[in-house]
Amino acid sequence: MKILPTLAIFIAVCASWTYARAQNSSVSSPDMLIQTSCRICHSVRMIEQQRLGRDAWLAEVRKMKGWGAPIQDDQVAAVADYLAAHYGSNLPPMRPQVLSAAEAIAVIAPEPDELKAGSPARGSRLYADACASCHNDDARGRLGPDLVQRPILLRWRDWDDVIIRGRRSMPGFAGVLSQSEIADILAWVRSRRVTFGN
Ligand code: HEC
Ligand code: HEC
Repeated sequence: MKILPTLAIFIAVCASWTYARAQNSSVSSPDMLIQTSCRICHSVRMIEQQRLGRDAWLAEVRKMKGWGAPIQDDQVAAVADYLAAHYGSNLPPMRPQVLSAAEAIAVIAPEPDELKAGSPARGSRLYADACASCHNDDARGRLGPDLVQRPILLRWRDWDDVIIRGRRSMPGFAGVLSQSEIADILAWVRSRRVTFGN
């Protein structure tokens, strides 16, 4: 009769696991809850720019819970307290991020190439396999944005970074495309021009 002790151990393990999970959810700090539960649908910035009193925050958190924010009933008050303490109606409005004209230009300014010059012919094939499904056969965009004659084509570091790491709904290609293949695709996309008509 080995089955009984095994079963007992199994039940004990399950119980402690469930207990640990329950503990976890009640010790999740309001800060963590906001990061994990509120960011499902919108950016935290959207929350940070609000200035509401405690009651208004409570109503807001209840409303968001009603809309699907995964927050337990016993966490609602703590989240509202946290939000009222950090983004309360008694606090000054959030300062908008200010970017000087020079800084704005620097974000899109061309930079000298350091990727080895690629082959547009190889790039064309690689592009068709890896990118066309989202950016369209002609790179003029579909699910992903139009890539033709974009500032990023003159900023190899940003180009490399987006392709290696991906961005939001775009997957990264680390381990899939080599540096020289990334340069090949760049060479092909650079060869494309915006045309009007036809
Ligand atoms: C299931 C999706 C979802 C989740 C999760 C969610 N929200 Fe929202 N939230 C929305 C939508 C949709 C809007 C309306 C956006 C608009 O009007 O553009 C909104 C709007 C807001 C607003 C602006 C005021 C308003 O009521 O329109 C605040 C503040 C806000 N949410 C806070 C939160 C907080 C805090 C959490 C986490 C507790 C959260 N949201 C989680 C969907 C969500
Ligand atoms: C599953 C769809 C998908 C695939 C596949 C895909 N992309 Fe994207 N790409 C996107 C989306 C969506 C964005 C916009 C990301 C964002 O900013 O939210 C994007 C953004 C980009 C950007 C940034 C554009 C800019 O001006 O900042 C570049 C560059 C880019 N993709 C190149 C590529 C290349 C090259 C490939 C193939 C190796 C590729 N993408 C494959 C969907 C995709």
